[in-house]
Amino acid sequence: HPEPLLSLGNAFSYEDLAAWHKRASNILGSSDFDLVCEPKIDGLAVALTYVDGLLVTGATRGDGYRGENITQNLKTIRSIPLSVPGEEAPPRFEVRGEVYMPREGFKKLNEERAREGLPLFANPRNAAAGSGRQLDSSITANRPLDIFVYGLGPAEGKPVPDTHWEIMQYLKSLGFKVNPNIALCHTIDEAEEYHQKWVEGRESWPYEADGMVVKVNSIAFQGELGAVAHEPRWAIAYKFPAVQGTTRLLD
Ligand code: IVH
Repeated sequence: HPEPLLSLGNAFSYEDLAAWHKRASNILGSSDFDLVCEPKIDGLAVALTYVDGLLVTGATRGDGYRGENITQNLKTIRSIPLSVPGEEAPPRFEVRGEVYMPREGFKKLNEERAREGLPLFANPRNAAAGSGRQLDSSITANRPLDIFVYGLGPAEGKPVPDTHWEIMQYLKSLGFKVNPNIALCHTIDEAEEYHQKWVEGRESWPYEADGMVVKVNSIAFQGELGAVAHEPRWAIAYKFPAVQGTTRLLD
């Protein structure tokens, strides 16, 4: 990857989130900065490179520095644009996002596999990752995969918006699929409200999410905050409580 794909630190409580916000506020010298909250879907992280309006490379995140080239597979996912309007997009840019399998498609795929006597996928994350990394792209083409893009990587030759929120609107205008449930929040308490709302409603989402990502909106502030040990200081994964279930051991 021309620029490493970082991972995220975790918060498991409001206190963790507040501690993250305080650290960022101390560095920025103010606690008055906007945040963007987004669902965190667990799937296959990818980086898509467009040159002169055409999708030329699609890669997995891998270890963050080096991923696998799965361009042919990603080209079979209908919600990934093969081309973008050349006059509006930078001549060369990278978009990052998460390929995932919606609950409905996952259920159908496993039912089909059960009928054919094939091993079942443990969860939508494994199904998405396995489907995206096939050696035969016609297999990927028949899997119900979708994508949400959540960021811009290196972009050359044209200025891009200077806030994360505006970048998301810009990517949408270029034809990328952005999660319609992202929210611009002005305070950490608004972010907490967003988290609460989604914790309660998570079962009704068409996809499985394991938390939300809270990001500092200003790209200049993101730059000031930087990263430590592969984790940016400008974003954090605020996890949902683990789903609990009971297993009865019959034999
Ligand atoms: S931002 C430096 N936004 O979570 C910021 N990541 O541990 C990096 N993920 O593998 C990513 N939804 O693929 C971001 N809305 C979202 C996300 C998201 C899912 C994944 C991402 C990465 C992992 C980070």
